[in-house]
Amino acid sequence: MGKSILDGRSKSLIAKQQSIQSLHSLIASTLEQHGITENHIEADIIIMDTLAINRVELISSQDSIVSTDQLHSIESIITRRIHREPLAYILGYQPFYGLDFAVNSNVLIPRPETELLVEEILNTTISYNNLSVADIGTGSGVIAVTLAIMRGNYKFYAVDQSAAAVELAKQNAKAHNVLGKIDFKTGHLFANTKDKFDVIVSNLPYIPSSRLEQLDPELSWEPLQALDGGTDGSEVISKLIYESVLHVKPDSTIFLEIDHSHSDKLINIANKIFPASSIQIKQDLQGFDRILIINPFGRNLT
Ligand SMILES: C[S@@+](CC[C@H](N)C(=O)[O-])C[C@H]1O[C@@H](n2cnc3c(N)ncnc32)[C@H](O)[C@@H]1O
Repeated sequence: MGKSILDGRSKSLIAKQQSIQSLHSLIASTLEQHGITENHIEADIIIMDTLAINRVELISSQDSIVSTDQLHSIESIITRRIHREPLAYILGYQPFYGLDFAVNSNVLIPRPETELLVEEILNTTISYNNLSVADIGTGSGVIAVTLAIMRGNYKFYAVDQSAAAVELAKQNAKAHNVLGKIDFKTGHLFANTKDKFDVIVSNLPYIPSSRLEQLDPELSWEPLQALDGGTDGSEVISKLIYESVLHVKPDSTIFLEIDHSHSDKLINIANKIFPASSIQIKQDLQGFDRILIINPFGRNLT
């Protein structure tokens, strides 16, 4: 085992000069000893964030000496990280679709799979103006905010059952100058609206309750209501499909992020609720079913 940044020698580490290169090795090996697999990537991020440098500067200044204040900041990050608190919560932000979003323990940390969901909507709506979009279970607001940036003349409705999540989503919308384009609400699914939407998008919880305990320790830091999809994991998404009946137009499209184990069940529900629907499934980069697209009446956007 290599030397840990937090072992008995940590005091000498701070007293001693460290180059970026030696600090990087020390951070990566400390994280590795605590079971963190992406330790090199995280060491890069921690150094770039603390020293406020970009990747090119990181690579080109390997011999630069890190100040004592910066070493102290890095130690406090590592102390939290080795308790398996997610790095995004420690640093307070997570990149999504090339943008930075504020995150805290009231919201799910946005995942790369959700970028595929956004990409799918952007591809589908490329030649349409003035659509209305509902983002159900908005969390940090990544979906609604990214789409609002990319589709300046659309109207957005974004809801979450967590008031703290909605508060953060509003902050993200404000930071990205789209607060005025999104009507944020706190509540259950469609409970706060009677509107019909051209696009309904949702990334609701989809992990079966019984599986939650077996997941990586990092997930225990994320809000339970963002992860727990009920007994088989598909309860909340199933409800959303049922409730969407009152909120679709003849040519609406529903985009749902799902777990691959639920695709057959959710397709059956969609077919039952919307007998004339056309349905597509898109896979993620690992080849798992990940996005369910429903055209409730078999018609595309017009
Ligand atoms: C998996 S997280 C996704 C957050 C965000 N959309 C994203 O993609 O990063 C699911 C979100 O749905 C919210 N949620 C769960 N059940 C809900 C319900 N019945 N009504 C409204 N929001 C709900 C949770 O509070 C959580 O913020």
